[in-house]
Amino acid sequence: MTTEPLPTDMKIAEAPTEPLDDFVIADAYRDWQAREGVKVIEDFAFGDLGAVELGPWARKGGMGAVINVPNDYLPNDAHVVEIAPGGQSEPERHMYEENVYILSGRGATRIWLDGQSAESFEWTAGSFFSIPLNAWYQHFNVGAEPARYVAVTDAPPVMRRARDDDFVFNNPFQFASRYRPGGSQFAGGKLYNRRVWETNFVPNAPDMALYGWKARGAGGINVMLEMAKNSQKAHISEFPIGTYKKAHRHGPGAHLVVLSGVGFSLLWTKDDLSDLRRCDWKKNGMVIIPSDGCFHQHFNTGTTRARYLAMRPGTAGFLPPTGRAAMIETSTKDGGGQIEYADEHPRIHELFEAELARHGAPCRMKAFVSCCNGEVGPTSERDT
Ligand SMILES: [Fe+2]
Ligand SMILES: [Zn+2]
Repeated sequence: MTTEPLPTDMKIAEAPTEPLDDFVIADAYRDWQAREGVKVIEDFAFGDLGAVELGPWARKGGMGAVINVPNDYLPNDAHVVEIAPGGQSEPERHMYEENVYILSGRGATRIWLDGQSAESFEWTAGSFFSIPLNAWYQHFNVGAEPARYVAVTDAPPVMRRARDDDFVFNNPFQFASRYRPGGSQFAGGKLYNRRVWETNFVPNAPDMALYGWKARGAGGINVMLEMAKNSQKAHISEFPIGTYKKAHRHGPGAHLVVLSGVGFSLLWTKDDLSDLRRCDWKKNGMVIIPSDGCFHQHFNTGTTRARYLAMRPGTAGFLPPTGRAAMIETSTKDGGGQIEYADEHPRIHELFEAELARHGAPCRMKAFVSCCNGEVGPTSERDT
């Protein structure tokens, strides 16, 4: 077989003589924020979401803000919204998922699909629910006080991928596989193995019964929430007085809202802790894991147990839905994402004991940490 020589002449266009425009790459998510005219806050540590100053956000029924982390792209964002007494949001539907936690106040939400009858449910501070994907919904404040919620959504990747308002906000597709009106999704739920509870509505997350989860350390209890057939995930964890959870890392974008207790979280990416950031929190505080592989650890310095709700992006279709869950319970020494107590940087425990000393409270980690100067405290989840 003979081979022809490849052509070598390249076809070079003539240099334009007229000035040209730069091609601007649009960011559909940032453009949406600008059109909404909504206040945008860039941070990842909030001591109290109830104290965050909001701006006007007409569509949502009053005031609001969108929270993004600085200098990074997350697979999710947070919307903090306050509806005035007697107020209501505009009906809307969208092709991004939205999980809603009620920080304060009380009200009701109406959910419906085109051509089908609506259903409603009532909520109060502590309620946690999910809007079924692309279902119409409208929130009503039926109380005498302002009602404030934080919602975690996957709007950023959905908008950046679709780049079309009509697709995101005016899409007639009905996800029958995810939601059927008049079913039982907003009443009750179903328990599965490994502490998984499937529902669209948790009436009072700060008071929900949780299950033992020894691997995460120091008497923690937990429930994993599967809401509205979402790819987004959520879980609730609680840990005892005078203790802290093991540090771990995973993908970016988990939003942790404090449901009860007083304490702080540490976040870092460098082994020598040189970029350590501390976030002090109480009820309704929020910490966001702002980047991939960012270690984070939660410390209870108060006089009650501490509980938080974590709203996570899940695998969002980019990874198979298994694997990560096992990895976060595996030591970093074995290729996992969890730092065992014995492997901690000594500064971590020093910081915790110093903070407890300021409150006159004993450390209760002796059963887990050899350098602990405190009490034995819990030795398993059954002691909490
Ligand atoms: Fe985490
Ligand atoms: Zn100690």
